[in-house]
Amino acid sequence: MTIQDTLFMPAALTGPVPLTLGILSLSLPWVLWRLGRGKKTQGQAAPPFYPFDPAALDRKDAETPILTIWNNMILPNRYAHEIRNNEILNFRDGLEKDFLTTVPGLEALFTGTFHNHIVWDTASAFSRKIGALIEPLSMETGLFLKENWSDTAEWHSIPLNECMHFLIAQLTARIFIGEELCRDRNWIQLAIDYTTHRTAAIKQLVYFGPLVPIVHWFLPSCRALRACVRAGRPFVERVLAARREEQRRNPNQGKDEKQREREKSINALSWIDGVAGETGTRYDATLTQLRLAYAAVHTTSDLMTKVVAAICEHEELVGPLREEIVAVIKEHGWTEAALAKMVLLDSVLKETQRLEPLASMTLSRIAREPVVLSDGTRIPKGTQVRLTTDNMWNSSIYPDAAKFDGYRFVKLREQDKDAAPGSGLSFVSVSSNHMGFGYGKHACPGRFFAGAETKIALCHILLKYDFELANPECARAQTDGMMIWRDKKAKLKVRRRNEEIQI
Ligand code: HEM
Repeated sequence: MTIQDTLFMPAALTGPVPLTLGILSLSLPWVLWRLGRGKKTQGQAAPPFYPFDPAALDRKDAETPILTIWNNMILPNRYAHEIRNNEILNFRDGLEKDFLTTVPGLEALFTGTFHNHIVWDTASAFSRKIGALIEPLSMETGLFLKENWSDTAEWHSIPLNECMHFLIAQLTARIFIGEELCRDRNWIQLAIDYTTHRTAAIKQLVYFGPLVPIVHWFLPSCRALRACVRAGRPFVERVLAARREEQRRNPNQGKDEKQREREKSINALSWIDGVAGETGTRYDATLTQLRLAYAAVHTTSDLMTKVVAAICEHEELVGPLREEIVAVIKEHGWTEAALAKMVLLDSVLKETQRLEPLASMTLSRIAREPVVLSDGTRIPKGTQVRLTTDNMWNSSIYPDAAKFDGYRFVKLREQDKDAAPGSGLSFVSVSSNHMGFGYGKHACPGRFFAGAETKIALCHILLKYDFELANPECARAQTDGMMIWRDKKAKLKVRRRNEEIQI
């Protein structure tokens, strides 16, 4: 019997376990208040993080050991092939444990968990529409840069990370919710805050184990999260009501026509509403939008921050990158094919992600049954397994691995001309030696969208602006042992230039 079962059985309310739980839950607000106070006092101390040094992670030919802490196992990169598609090592269970995706009341109250799997479906569906996304993404980038970086030819400085966050939030919102809200700073701020509150809430909740279903009602971070969802409702409901009204005006449309209309409209809000309607699913449209932003925004803006910083640190790349963009667009137009032909830009993105991925571990899975790996390594039932991405920094795989080489993947592609598309050398392909987007059948479904979005944004930035780091010493990569990020204090100096071609 679980604690939850005991709690909700009236006949058992006089037993010793429920009584103890009753006393505990009565004193819970006080305990949480104390915890909150403690946290605030500790909050003044800087969180522990360190300079990120890929050279220190270079194992060369030495074997990386397995690390076991309680029921957590950190497996080295060499097990990637065995872990990636093994369903006993379950992806969904890992997601639930890491992101508490099914805690009732933490987010959607009684509308089920549609918001969890629809994010995957949306990311996959929109990956097949990249051609149609170029125009709106490009237009939005142009508007954002004009408004935020201005057209002045004088050098001026902007906060790098924050700026990339707002840029990517606006671009993502353009496609996922539409034109009405993507330029509304209040909505964008809510989408960004949702990620911040959710991350904070998860970090606090993990300490409460089976008490999570009760504790989340009181924790300030969870309350802030719920307030954020409440504040978002009027925005989403207004836009959704207008879109539904549009649909109602054409009641005689057949299913195929409706499908075509949805395809044309290129925004996920209507697309998701159509999917839910067809399957008769009740869902929370606001939460679904916020969960999309959660998956898409901070991941992509982190990459944009890192790649812009890397280009500044290797300014010799700027000229060749501009030349490539101009030549490719002149030949192929501003198209999906053009984005695919920008091999240097692609290589710079992939090299940035190789050296500084979002995290140094990936493929979080939980063993539903005991598993024995090919070398006899035993994974007990219930163990949470993660895989390190150490091959990405290994100089026996990538020569001079700790050094950033913007041309690395261009050269590897040239050496490997016969390789099949998707063999691991383009930015969106995954392999056991480059797991920036994960690996196997659960690899990030949003990577095609992220690849197009970052390339479009970089084309605008490179063609329209000169840029350099204002405080290079503050822009270094940092880590807390798992996540890797560029210092939030980094600033960029920018000034408008005359672009060679209009995009
Ligand atoms: C540079 C940007 C991004 C990075 C680095 C990134 C990284 C990742 C990683 C490492 C995983 C886990 C894969 C695994 O465990 O095997 C993942 C999963 C996922 N990502 Fe991304 N991601 C990015 C952008 C996006 C975008 C734009 C979306 C769009 C909505 C998205 C949606 C998802 C979803 C839905 C999953 C879960 C997969 C599943 O349910 O099976 N990601 N991502």
